[in-house]
Amino acid sequence: MHMVSEMFSSYFIPHGHCYLWKPGLVGLHILSDSLISLAYFLIPIELIYIVKKRKDIPFDWLFMLFGSFIVCCGITHIMEIWTLWHPDYWLSGLLKAITAIVSLCTASVVVDLIPKILAIPSPDQLAAANLALQVEIAERKQVQEALSQLTLELENRVQERTADLEEANQLLRRENRDRKLAEESLRRSEAQLQKQTEQLQNALQQLQSTQTQLVQTEKMSSLGQMVAGVAHEINNPINFIYANIPLATDYIRELLDLIQLYQVCYPHPALAIQQKIKNIELDFVLEDLQKILGSIQLGAERIKEIVKSLRNFSRLDEAEMKTVNIHEGIDSSLMILQHRLKEQRNRPQIQTIKEYGDLPPVECYAGQLNQVFMNILSNAIDALEQVNRDRQQCCCSQERKLLIRIRTLLVNGDRVQIHIADNGAGMTPDVMAKIYDPFYTTKPIGYGTGLGLAISYQIIKNHEGSLTCVSSLGKGTEFMIEIPLKSKTSRLTHAGYEPCLFVDV
Ligand SMILES: Nc1ncnc2c1ncn2[C@@H]1O[C@H](COP(=O)(O)OP(=O)(O)O)[C@@H](O)[C@H]1O
Ligand SMILES: [Mg+2]
Repeated sequence: MHMVSEMFSSYFIPHGHCYLWKPGLVGLHILSDSLISLAYFLIPIELIYIVKKRKDIPFDWLFMLFGSFIVCCGITHIMEIWTLWHPDYWLSGLLKAITAIVSLCTASVVVDLIPKILAIPSPDQLAAANLALQVEIAERKQVQEALSQLTLELENRVQERTADLEEANQLLRRENRDRKLAEESLRRSEAQLQKQTEQLQNALQQLQSTQTQLVQTEKMSSLGQMVAGVAHEINNPINFIYANIPLATDYIRELLDLIQLYQVCYPHPALAIQQKIKNIELDFVLEDLQKILGSIQLGAERIKEIVKSLRNFSRLDEAEMKTVNIHEGIDSSLMILQHRLKEQRNRPQIQTIKEYGDLPPVECYAGQLNQVFMNILSNAIDALEQVNRDRQQCCCSQERKLLIRIRTLLVNGDRVQIHIADNGAGMTPDVMAKIYDPFYTTKPIGYGTGLGLAISYQIIKNHEGSLTCVSSLGKGTEFMIEIPLKSKTSRLTHAGYEPCLFVDV
């Protein structure tokens, strides 16, 4: 309180007294202090202006500090003028103290900032850096120009290349289109070719089949006619031979009895008779004659049987379908093949096992069916002979019998099945696939025509039946014929097959 009252008391003498109130000296101080104050108040305004304008100036707060320190200085100078008339030295001292504090703060802050301020590049350095930058910029510009030039050249080249590529692409596209067209037309002609080939193949197959039929029909029908003719021709003489054999036997027996009677009545005949009896060995002749007569009888019977079988087999007299006993047809075929079935020099007899079912008569072309039985049976015999030959070659045991098993049965009451199986050589799947092809044979030239099964297949097909086969190599083969008891259509009469004999032996 004392301090404050002292501050504003007129306890001190005004400062003008020190200048002895010399107007010149007082005026000089007033002017100088006024100008200094003015300057000290202007400088902060300028600083504020600069800081406001140049926002990038670093340490702007330092300018503010300087500004306040200079303002303080300005106030002290105003106080100098004031104290000329008013001795408020405490106030003046206080303002000076404030100014001192602000100055010291500014100084200490500046000390701290010196290294940072020194680090700020000088205008010369900046000018040098600027120059270096300009040089670099110039160089960069040059490089950029060169780069632009290169880019331009590159772009030109790319454009040229693109144009070339485009051209090549177009060419390629054109070629592609042409190729596709060519491919398309190739495919079309290929398809056409394929179709033509198929047509040709079909035509060829048909031709082969027709040829086979024609050849067979022609060949077999003449062969059948011949066989039937021969059978007929033989039939007459054999009939009277057969009919006369008992008579001849009776006569001969009578004559023999007569000779014996002569021998009893005339035990000592004339020398010439005795000589003749000796020469002809009468006792042997008498004994042998009985046997010969027996053989003649047997032979004639067999000839009769064979002729009957041949006639039965060829059945040339049957142009229409007939209702026949299938078993008779099989038996006839077996009879004709008898000579092949019986024991041979290098081969045991082929045994036939018949397992005939109870079959009603079947409506069919018996001659054609017999032809099928004959073909299948003779193939079975061939396969069994092959097995026999193979066994002989490898000196294997001959224990296994050569068998043909024939089984017949009625299926569903309206179809008959005939199974003909052998335990012969069997077939590979490859052979199996071709057996019904005309002219396909695995037999040596002169032994097989390759037509037997092709014709058989056709015949069974014409009978609205089926011919199937199961075979296992080395074990045997079984053929199965299935035909209806009654044909549904009259197609058979126009099948192109005359009833004929085809002996595929
Ligand atoms: N029972 C069978 N066992 C083995 N192979 C058979 C039998 N039947 C037919 N084949 C085969 O089928 C082929 C064709 O028979 P086929 O048409 O009768 O002509 P071919 O008897 O004249 O050869 C025969 O060559 C044979 O290879
Ligand atoms: Mg054959």
